Amino acid sequence: MSPTRSRALFSGILVAGGLSLGGIAAAAEQPATPVAPALPPASGAMLANACTGCHGTDGVSRGPASPTIAGITKDYFIDTMKAFKDGKRAATIMDRIAKGYSDAEINAMATYFAGKKYVGHAQKTDAAKVAKGKTLHKQNCEKCHEEGGRLSDEGGILAGQWMPYLHFQMEDFTSGKTKMPEKMEKKVKALKPGDLDALINFYGSQK
Ligand code: HEC
Ligand code: HEC
Repeated sequence: MSPTRSRALFSGILVAGGLSLGGIAAAAEQPATPVAPALPPASGAMLANACTGCHGTDGVSRGPASPTIAGITKDYFIDTMKAFKDGKRAATIMDRIAKGYSDAEINAMATYFAGKKYVGHAQKTDAAKVAKGKTLHKQNCEKCHEEGGRLSDEGGILAGQWMPYLHFQMEDFTSGKTKMPEKMEKKVKALKPGDLDALINFYGSQK
């Protein structure tokens, strides 16, 4: 199965699994019951309930097409949600979801998820690819994705992230559907066939 085909299939399953966007939208559209005094704005924790179906409880995704979002920085969360909203970042589903939230709500969720503990997933990897990926990472990616991709100062967390998700994400970058940061693009364009797979094996081998 090609990554593109399996990706479409994954989102199909997500939606068929009862996580229909219509449900989310309908819930959001229900008129607020007039109560006095006015209800406080929804907290990050309340808003995050709408995300657990795909991103797991507390942002730790059971995978494999939805990334773990626990522990990513507030800045990256806000930037990427805005990029989904504006169509600057390609998506199967997050573009539609992100449009349902105001800046204040995105802000509240960013704080909530940044405070949650990231849990990496040890996945089945190929030892030779992992070793090759480790070297490639040091040479090309560590400068921004520090500590073997464990830090989320730039981008999301790569270490222990779901490998199918990383494949989809890199495909969106290399195909130009999502624009990469310029310096990352230079590095990625210089990679040889098989290098990205090795890098993703390296990330998937880490907890
Ligand atoms: C139906 C499944 C689904 C739901 C519900 C969902 N997401 Fe996502 N999310 C995804 C998928 C799949 C991706 C990968 C991008 C894509 O294909 O849309 C993603 C990507 C993301 C990312 C990017 C992470 C990174 O490392 O770059 C963030 C942030 C995010 N989602 C936040 C949320 C928030 C906040 C909610 C709840 C308001 C939510 N998602 C609800 C499926 C979902
Ligand atoms: C100059 C800094 C820089 C370098 C070098 C770099 N990246 Fe990135 N990377 C980023 C930034 C910033 C983002 C967030 C996306 C954005 O801002 O457009 C990102 C995003 C990503 C993502 C998506 C993460 C997610 O959660 O969805 C992956 C995967 C990734 N980079 C892999 C790599 C790989 C593999 C290399 C080395 C070949 C690399 N990057 C080199 C800065 C860099």
